[in-house]
Amino acid sequence: MGTSKFGTSKLILGIETSCDETAAAVVADGNRVISSVVSSQIDLHSKYGGVVPEVASRAHVDLMIPVINEALIQANLDGFPNMGKTVPDAIAVTVGPGLVGSLLVGVSAAKTLAAIWGVPFIPINHLEGHLYAAFLEEPDLIQDFPLVVLLASGGHTALVEMKGHGDYILLGETIDDAAGEAFDKVGRILNLGYPGGPSIDKASMGANPDAIKFPRSLIKEGFDFSFSGLKTSVLNFVKKNPGFSIPDIAASFQEAVVDVLVTKTARAIDQTGAKGLCLAGGVAANSRLREKILDICIEKNVRPFLPSPEMCTDNAAMIAAAGYWRLNEPDESLSIGVDPSMKLVTK
Ligand code: KG4
Ligand code: ZN
Repeated sequence: MGTSKFGTSKLILGIETSCDETAAAVVADGNRVISSVVSSQIDLHSKYGGVVPEVASRAHVDLMIPVINEALIQANLDGFPNMGKTVPDAIAVTVGPGLVGSLLVGVSAAKTLAAIWGVPFIPINHLEGHLYAAFLEEPDLIQDFPLVVLLASGGHTALVEMKGHGDYILLGETIDDAAGEAFDKVGRILNLGYPGGPSIDKASMGANPDAIKFPRSLIKEGFDFSFSGLKTSVLNFVKKNPGFSIPDIAASFQEAVVDVLVTKTARAIDQTGAKGLCLAGGVAANSRLREKILDICIEKNVRPFLPSPEMCTDNAAMIAAAGYWRLNEPDESLSIGVDPSMKLVTK
């Protein structure tokens, strides 16, 4: 089915609508991005200081078709609606976890296109998509299994051992807030705007990360994370110290999050004997985290895979990449629904 332009390559159309990004992409053979379109709703939600689910699903409805259309056109496929010529070989779509209304928009579009085109429908876990983002930029990553993946986004924070395709061990996860959620909440406390991650990252440049010693919960043992106490500490500090330098508070908070993430990642490398280390999820775009993770990789002699910031945040190319490795699984066809609290299937 793939176009002659791409020879025998398998082309997967990926669709992602789990939160506030409407995204579609065409990826060849699980690692070549032919097109990737991401329409962010950040401007729509920023005035509320966070994602409003109803606003998100309505925006997905408006944007879904134009975004898919653009991804197909950029990939030189026929575009939407298809006129019976060249179409992708399969459609991979995020079915969970995420906001139920948002997920439904992407899944409905994917099911409709799969039925019209007569191609397989591949349901993808959003977290698995994040794990695959690094493969798009480093296809030879496959040689470095087992990998430790630090997945830190707005909805999730987890350390995963990836032994092979689809073969995961969940080493630990957050017991309360996700790291990105903590960045977003502290961004609001410090009036730095939404989303808090990029604005705290920016505000911290040149500031003093040791100005305040914020707590590093659970740092001494295991692989689970906890960030809600840290957020409360920042809130209490701000209330007690009006007029304190906002960049220094931001940098000290960021240092506490990064310290915990890096310490536990280093522990995971030691325990698993991993050959490579991947960062994934929106927080992986954080400049201080990237700097400290690189130091750890050098110290422990493991290969670092740090996806570009665009591949760290939500996109559909990572969903298509994850879908490629599931191409040979039985076609789930159109029977599967969305699962807002879907877990990563681990062994
Ligand atoms: O992966 P993602 O795009 O969406 C989810 O699946 O959650 O991650 C979004 C999260 C937000 O919480 C945002 O504040 C955070 O990633 N983020 C960052 C940075 N860029 C985005 N956090 C820290 N530093 C950044 N530079
Ligand atoms: Zn995500």
